[in-house]
Amino acid sequence: MRIIAMPEDPDQTEPLRNPSSGFVAYVPVGSLARGEALVTTGGERTVACDICHGAMLKGAGTVPAIAGRSPSYLARQMHDMKAGTCRGPGSALMTPVVEQRTNDDLVAIKRVRLVADAVVRAAGSAVD
Ligand code: HEC
Repeated sequence: MRIIAMPEDPDQTEPLRNPSSGFVAYVPVGSLARGEALVTTGGERTVACDICHGAMLKGAGTVPAIAGRSPSYLARQMHDMKAGTCRGPGSALMTPVVEQRTNDDLVAIKRVRLVADAVVRAAGSAVD
């Protein structure tokens, strides 16, 4: 299972390096629905993310926003937290979230960005 991120417009990405030209993440079939379930309910192996990451996953207090982050960044952070190599002041809170998840779960959860985008669109505002 993996994610492949491609530029929306290769000419804008390189050589123009236009910061407002985006990327499209291609993910395994089925991972969108699975990720949405894990993010919103926790399924049987994790905890719903908005409890700590706030409404629309835009952050709450010292807990960082995860809405709008790139799928590969989210996955790397969660992989490293699970492996114990990424430690911040609040990492202990994420331990129960990541410890029982499989790599397939982590790929599915990368969809958190799209889930959050959809939630925000439904609410009529934009993801930062
Ligand atoms: C019990 C509270 C709690 C829950 C539930 C929780 N998180 Fe977190 N999460 C945190 C805290 C606190 C941090 C910051 C850790 C640190 O200090 O480095 C964090 C950090 C992260 C990061 C790294 C963000 C960054 O910018 O480095 C990601 C990605 C993340 N969480 C994803 C998730 C996902 C996906 C879920 C739901 C499946 C989830 N979290 C559920 C508390 C929580």
